[in-house]
Amino acid sequence: MTSAGRPRPTAHETGDAGVNGVGTERRSLLVRGGRRLVGEVILAGAKNSALKLMAASLLADEPSTIRRVPRIADVFTMIEMLRALGAEVTFDDGELRIDPSGQLNDCAPYELVRRMRASIIVMGPMVARLGRATIAMPGGCNIGPRRIDFHIRGLQKLGAAIEIEHGFIKVTCDGLRGAVVPLDYPSVGATENLLMAATAARGTTVIENAAREPEIVDLAKFLMSMGAHIEGAGSSSIAIEGGHALHGAIHEVIADRIEAGTYLLAGVVTGGDVSVSGLNPPCLELFLNKLRAMGVQVDEGDRTIRARALGPLQPVDVSTLPHPGFATDLQAQFMVALSLAEGTSIVTENVFENRFAVVDELNRLGAGITTSGHHAVVSGPRQLTGSVVEAPDLRGGAALAIAGLVAEGATEVRGLHHIDRGYEVFDVRLAALGADVERIEGRYAAGSAGR
Ligand code: UD1
Repeated sequence: MTSAGRPRPTAHETGDAGVNGVGTERRSLLVRGGRRLVGEVILAGAKNSALKLMAASLLADEPSTIRRVPRIADVFTMIEMLRALGAEVTFDDGELRIDPSGQLNDCAPYELVRRMRASIIVMGPMVARLGRATIAMPGGCNIGPRRIDFHIRGLQKLGAAIEIEHGFIKVTCDGLRGAVVPLDYPSVGATENLLMAATAARGTTVIENAAREPEIVDLAKFLMSMGAHIEGAGSSSIAIEGGHALHGAIHEVIADRIEAGTYLLAGVVTGGDVSVSGLNPPCLELFLNKLRAMGVQVDEGDRTIRARALGPLQPVDVSTLPHPGFATDLQAQFMVALSLAEGTSIVTENVFENRFAVVDELNRLGAGITTSGHHAVVSGPRQLTGSVVEAPDLRGGAALAIAGLVAEGATEVRGLHHIDRGYEVFDVRLAALGADVERIEGRYAAGSAGR
């Protein structure tokens, strides 16, 4: 599957429907359930890595090239952000070239930060490169307050002064200094922002209780290929010896483990046989073990994973945790499989508040899920039936589409712009596996679902 030959992003790639889906364009995914999914998905580059690598490229005053960048709305938003900050960006066939050598601006505009919370990741590189940054307070995915206090406290430890006024964060500094920065929680974004800022700090910075996600390791590798001195990425203590001038570099994004888990689950719920390729299986280990505990046959190869549901699914309990725990980004999709399992499962969400926003919509399709605080009780097995549903967020949207694959009749998943933020050609990939799916642009297919 390639995005070659499409020089300009389409509306679904840029998220033109507006953040809340109330823009002029409406789009939905019409899924007619009942097909068994079979085949292989060649994974795209990881969204959560690509966005950070793009921000990191600002640290050099030379061009960098990033390969295997997914054509998704969040990437196009980040391209807009880099251009707004003064970088020149070209994107061709999955290869991004970012030239930040000109004069950079110090203000990340409200419109872009509001559209994508991950924009906050430009803060560390801007402070490192310019000694100052003004950034709108973030918006983004509708999954809870998503604070940024760890980012702010960490930068203060490195010597930055921070003021928050009129909805903007204003960071200034007279040179950053290395320091020990303990995080109260292994926040992915805070670890990344501090890692990037610390490359410009005088002396050594140690981030304690750092996040250990594979995307952090990918970012550190890119920074090291730019000339940064970093040790311990992937562990909970990362040391950065700052002050080395960074140069441009060439890097290939790691595969998207969340995309992998999503397609494996899409296969599992249909009793199918789906493989994903391009990914190092250990980065999904806990997830794969949970699938096995459900009775799914999972085979790991060299950068491939194959999942086959050979019999009835069994219930399992799941608790989301920072990596290497069960990824919160797979929780909603996993609940669909648990809804089909023969018994009761308990899902505990430990990472984000409001990450059960999709539950009401899944229940409208016939799932039996009750929530109390950060616990959900999923009763199965349930026969799902098609309806019109609204995606509450990116992963919730993917979960509803997966539910539609196994539901009787048609399901219309509205708010497809959420899914387009993070999945490259989601409908095309599902169709290639044998799903009966249709992207509907410009209107909702009112009345067609359920038939
Ligand atoms: C990243 C991922 C997201 C994933 C999440 C957890 C990107 C673009 N997004 O989000 O897909 O679900 O990691 O794996 O990479 N927190 C604070 N204060 C802070 C920072 C975070 O309280 O300063 C809290 C958050 O509100 C949340 C928890 O910590 O409850 C985890 O957040 P964090 O790890 O920072 O997630 P993100 O980097 O936002």
